[in-house]
Amino acid sequence: MKTIVSGIQPTGSINVGTYLGSIRNFVALQDAMPEHHFYIFIADMHAITVQRDRLELRKTIKELAAIYLACGLNPERVSLFIQSEVIAHAQMAHLLECHAYIGELERMTQFKEKARAQESGVSVGLFTYPVLMAGDILLYDAEYVPVGDDQKQHLELTRDIAIRMNNRYGECLRVPKPLFPKIGARIMSLTEPTKKMSKSDTNVKSKIHLLDDDAIIRKRIMSAVTDSEGVVRFDKDNKPGISNLMAIYGAVTNLEYEAIENAFKDADYQTFKKAVADALVGEIAPIKARYKAIVESGQVDEILDEGAEQARRLAQKKIAKLYHKVGLGRKRK
Ligand code: TYM
Repeated sequence: MKTIVSGIQPTGSINVGTYLGSIRNFVALQDAMPEHHFYIFIADMHAITVQRDRLELRKTIKELAAIYLACGLNPERVSLFIQSEVIAHAQMAHLLECHAYIGELERMTQFKEKARAQESGVSVGLFTYPVLMAGDILLYDAEYVPVGDDQKQHLELTRDIAIRMNNRYGECLRVPKPLFPKIGARIMSLTEPTKKMSKSDTNVKSKIHLLDDDAIIRKRIMSAVTDSEGVVRFDKDNKPGISNLMAIYGAVTNLEYEAIENAFKDADYQTFKKAVADALVGEIAPIKARYKAIVESGQVDEILDEGAEQARRLAQKKIAKLYHKVGLGRKRK
């Protein structure tokens, strides 16, 4: 069975960037690639690489599980689980840490950015974070890993570690390929469109959460930063604000940039923004409705139990094989 693996950190509410860069793509792929099985998880072990409020984290883990389902992940196609409930992730992380180099981790731009953002007490876990992530992927022999553009470097590291171990021990790991959405791989902040829309941004106006009210969604789009040219044209360097709104619109409507430019060639920014807001509200409304129904149904725990069980089955076998490959433990007669 071929597999596809991906995860999201349960750190704050899911925003439109995370949704368009990852979850929306998971749902599309689950339908488009019927021969693959999906392992999609809540990356809670990644979340504690920086200090968190534990009660808030617990709450967000369950919220993310319900969001995944509300967005359309189908438990028959996807093993949906919480990373920390599958112990093999921790075992795999140690195994890979012994095959990753300090120098290559020091080059990780996300580590450098996150470490810089902290005043003191940068954890070792934050440093080794990309190796934990490599383990998440290699544990399930993922063929593809659907992610947003900001995970590119982590995927390259994952591939490097896999190739290194294959060279050292003989073929034991599948070298995975990233899958980026065609449009929406990097959604930018609505207030500073040269920065990524981020869960950790403290400016609430910079982002839209999937569970925001329609009125808030409209307000955020209508007040998004643009430019003074007044032409709906894709030009990331000179018109980052409008280009970002085009990315959001394109991702939701499946229209290419050229088609959007043509459709709005005589429109002013107000008209275009209104169309973006309408499209987004239309996309998110059913997700919000399903979210409520899923939370009320009380099915989430059962789905997570089942998902963890399926993930464990595959992951434990893989760990046992790898331990044997590198010479851990003993040979039984
Ligand atoms: P995280 O939680 O930061 O983001 C989850 C996914 O959403 C994508 N994303 C975006 N895409 C477009 N525009 C944005 N503004 C935006 N913000 C986030 C991310 O690229 C990602 O795909 N390390 C990962 C979680 C992880 C993982 C894994 C992913 C842990 N193990 C194994 C894949 C495979 C992370 O922090 O993503």
